[in-house]
Amino acid sequence: MSRRILDAVDNESTDFSVLAAQITQFFDDYMVPHFATEENDLFSAIEQELGPLAAVKELVAEHHTMRMQVTRFRVPGLEIGRREIEEFALNLERHIFKEERLFSSVSQQSEDKDRVRTEIIDL
Ligand SMILES: [Fe+2]
Repeated sequence: MSRRILDAVDNESTDFSVLAAQITQFFDDYMVPHFATEENDLFSAIEQELGPLAAVKELVAEHHTMRMQVTRFRVPGLEIGRREIEEFALNLERHIFKEERLFSSVSQQSEDKDRVRTEIIDL
């Protein structure tokens, strides 16, 4: 999704209010339940296994940032520009990358819990 948004941002004919509405719909349909699953189940399961992690706190803070960005997209009459949409897409892209690294590290936890914890702290 983030790549598709960035492609649209680069397209001169993009209507940013339409794009903001599409992002909002996607956010509500897919990202809201996805964030809830991560925050309520997945992250707590990871921290139960490995203890409290700064990386998890950071990911939750990023969810909050993206929620706030989309909250602005919902404001009637508020003009949403290229820069704001691009910032959302880049936040999403970085967030996904960071989570993939976290989940990849956690999946190896049975091999060496201490090494995995060190890798996660370095994210
Ligand atoms: Fe997430």
